[in-house]
Amino acid sequence: LFSGPVDFLKGVVAMDGLPDADRVEVCFAGRSNVGKSSLINALTNRKGLARASNTPGRTQEINFFELGEARYLVDLPGYGYANAPLAVVEKWQRLLKNYLSGRPNLRRAFVLIDSRHGIKPVDEEIMQLMNRSALTFQVVMTKADKIKDHERDRVLEQVRGKLAKHPAAFPELILTSSEKGEGIATLRAVISSLE
Ligand code: GTP
Ligand code: MG
Repeated sequence: LFSGPVDFLKGVVAMDGLPDADRVEVCFAGRSNVGKSSLINALTNRKGLARASNTPGRTQEINFFELGEARYLVDLPGYGYANAPLAVVEKWQRLLKNYLSGRPNLRRAFVLIDSRHGIKPVDEEIMQLMNRSALTFQVVMTKADKIKDHERDRVLEQVRGKLAKHPAAFPELILTSSEKGEGIATLRAVISSLE
């Protein structure tokens, strides 16, 4: 699947702009700057495909990528970023919530958590929304290259403890580094296995 073509389809700013729900879809959610766009680039092996940047709030639309003919990868705007005009932030957040709670072909949401920081209250809010929508989500730890093993273990323990309270959480965590390639093959295999 990941050796085939991948293309940017469109950026969506309102629910009526979503493409037809006619293929398997997975999305990447997470706080601003956690590494969503970088992860899509690493998965597809295409450096500039999803625009990544050190400026939080870089991705401001719901970006659809076609993976072959049968799948969409969806890059979401980050949440928990308050450094933009309030009206703008509220518009993204509403779109994000509507998308996460009302997309029939969305098979799994990957919730990205920074390996250094663990689960924050805004992450819990999104997870609760996913619980309410019965949307299976799976946590992907990002930037694993940035921490030492013992710090990582402490964060993983925090994450596992918090996930236990969320019925929609898929139990297996995936540890990744878009920089070093760690965990990327594992995540590709998970995405490929979804039907
Ligand atoms: P928004 O679109 O603003 O919500 O951010 P995002 O979640 O898409 O994050 P993005 O992929 O733009 O990455 C944010 C910053 O983190 C960039 O400077 C990336 O280079 C860096 N980054 C992302 N993944 C990794 C990683 O695995 N390791 C390291 N060291 N840096 C990373
Ligand atoms: Mg982004």
